[in-house]
Amino acid sequence: MKATWIDDGTPIALDVLAAEGILYERLSTEPAGYQPTMDVLKTERGYVEQDVVELRPTTPNLDAICAKFDGEHLHDEDEVRFVLEGEGVFDIRSGADRWMRVLVEQGDLIVVPAQRWHRFELTEQKTIRCVRLFQDTSGWVPHYRDAAE
Ligand SMILES: [Fe+2]
Repeated sequence: MKATWIDDGTPIALDVLAAEGILYERLSTEPAGYQPTMDVLKTERGYVEQDVVELRPTTPNLDAICAKFDGEHLHDEDEVRFVLEGEGVFDIRSGADRWMRVLVEQGDLIVVPAQRWHRFELTEQKTIRCVRLFQDTSGWVPHYRDAAE
């Protein structure tokens, strides 16, 4: 994981990320290594669904899929991702509306809180495989900032 402020490129320390409401942890990518943490998160935060999402250069309609989350948006529930393989970039607004850039890689767990503006992009690898947790069985519904303002 690497976190930086986009406006001046300076690093963001873990405690600052935590103070901004972003949960971050390193976990083993073995199921026995990460599943206990997933189970604790489900119990503590009310996540009821778990699945695995996978994007690769060979994924049909990859560009159209990526276009759904590369615009600034938020959700009514937390966005929970644990990276099993590959990497991706979350840009997340701070409480003061300043962009934080978080590069997540294999073994990184990140939780973007509900109602927090963010966007997501793949890196040049165009590959990520993640465990997702959801609070609602209706799953991932984005609300775009462009439409809201
Ligand atoms: Fe999102």
